[in-house]
Amino acid sequence: MSAAGERDEDASERLGCASFRRDLGVHYAYLAGSMYRGIASKELVVAMGRAGFMGFLGAAGLSPERVADDIAHIRRHLEPHRPFGVNLLCDLQHPARETANVEMLLAQGVRVIEASAFIKVTPALVLFHLSGLRPRPGGGVARDTRIVAKVSRPEVAREFMSPAPEAVVERLVAEGRVTREQAALARRVPVAQDITVEADSGGHTDRGVSTVLLPSMQSLRLRMTREFGYGEKIRLGLAGGIGTPHAVAAAFAMGADFVMTGSINQCTVEARIGDAVKDWLQTIDVQDTDYCPAGDMFEIGALVQVLKKGVLFPARAKRLHALYKSYESWEEIPQETRAQIQDAYFKKSVEDVWRETCEHLRKTGRESEIERAERSPKRRLALLFRWYYGYSSRLSFMDADADRPNVQIHTGPALGAFNQWARGTSWENWRNRHPDRMAKELMHEASAILSGYR
Ligand SMILES: Cc1cc2nc3c(=O)[nH]c(=O)nc-3n(C[C@H](O)[C@H](O)[C@H](O)COP(=O)(O)O)c2cc1C
Repeated sequence: MSAAGERDEDASERLGCASFRRDLGVHYAYLAGSMYRGIASKELVVAMGRAGFMGFLGAAGLSPERVADDIAHIRRHLEPHRPFGVNLLCDLQHPARETANVEMLLAQGVRVIEASAFIKVTPALVLFHLSGLRPRPGGGVARDTRIVAKVSRPEVAREFMSPAPEAVVERLVAEGRVTREQAALARRVPVAQDITVEADSGGHTDRGVSTVLLPSMQSLRLRMTREFGYGEKIRLGLAGGIGTPHAVAAAFAMGADFVMTGSINQCTVEARIGDAVKDWLQTIDVQDTDYCPAGDMFEIGALVQVLKKGVLFPARAKRLHALYKSYESWEEIPQETRAQIQDAYFKKSVEDVWRETCEHLRKTGRESEIERAERSPKRRLALLFRWYYGYSSRLSFMDADADRPNVQIHTGPALGAFNQWARGTSWENWRNRHPDRMAKELMHEASAILSGYR
């Protein structure tokens, strides 16, 4: 504390963009990214918020009731001025569900969302964005709600750097969901003032290179700011591959307005994933990850980065995808291969897998998908293989040791780099790792590097 009783700011609190820290209400320009199914848990979000950072609740794959409960927990444990955010994942197939999610978040008073996997700005996003717009006393536009958009492609960044699409805004006005005043304000600001540029990362990845991606997005920002004559700065953060002080320092040296970490937070006490998984993760190095097709975007072959060391999942996932591309139906696949898949991958018969798939689709109101698959053997094949991705992912939340070869664990090489950096310290053991303390140390060390002390 200074003599005046105010908090003394240390140099690491000056890294990144001052307006970002002020507007988001954080001391440090450092965010912990969402991690699905509550891996980025309510405890993780509370720990980050209390320490002057901000974390996003990993809401993807959780029921709306569970998300609401977690938000209530966060509110009970974080002082009102401490910030937190919640993930909103694009749901292209079910736009009504996406809108319902946004309505729930607004009803819960959530002010910041991390929007991910979007390829365009949807009505749900526009609703969240406009709901928080009001005139700033003395001029300008104030935002009570904020979208931190995670993007890995310039064409998607362009969407978020543009004002909200006029047609969508007009529809929301006509429906009485936003006011004329909010619609007018929306023309003067980008949909997202804060954009996380995501280079190659754990989980879903476009395998971008940060030294290529960030500068090109910075050029785009300049063009878009001029084109629309914005009165506010669009802030660009960097995520992907950040796990050491030098990586944090490099991000800020490249002009990032904030940084975001992901993989390193998965191997901490607060992350909600099995202890056995954390025991494996704390030993990985930078080459112990691999890419394979993502289960939720199986047909188009989108990629996820996963753990390779000690498991067979990535090799098996790639094989299933290759089989999917080569054959038109399950029955067409050679008998010997089918037997191997049932014995070693599924650990049950294909009939059982199909029965479970149908039960799941019925339970989630997607009977039409069953009918589609019964008409199209290729579609049925995709659903059978998708079951394996679900199974392998569930293993990581249950008893991962029960079927280790098939466990699917999303992670990236940033964790390998952190593990090397932490070697020989108390952080070698994940039981001593807490995301807020790691964040503080990374920021301190990065600041020392940038000041020439390291
Ligand atoms: C296990 C895991 C799960 C993730 N789940 C999500 C998610 O649900 N939503 C999201 O926006 N990002 C998700 N991410 C991405 C992170 O929020 C973050 O952007 C990324 O991990 C940063 O790159 P890094 O892993 O190289 O640090 C996930 C990452 C990991 C490692």
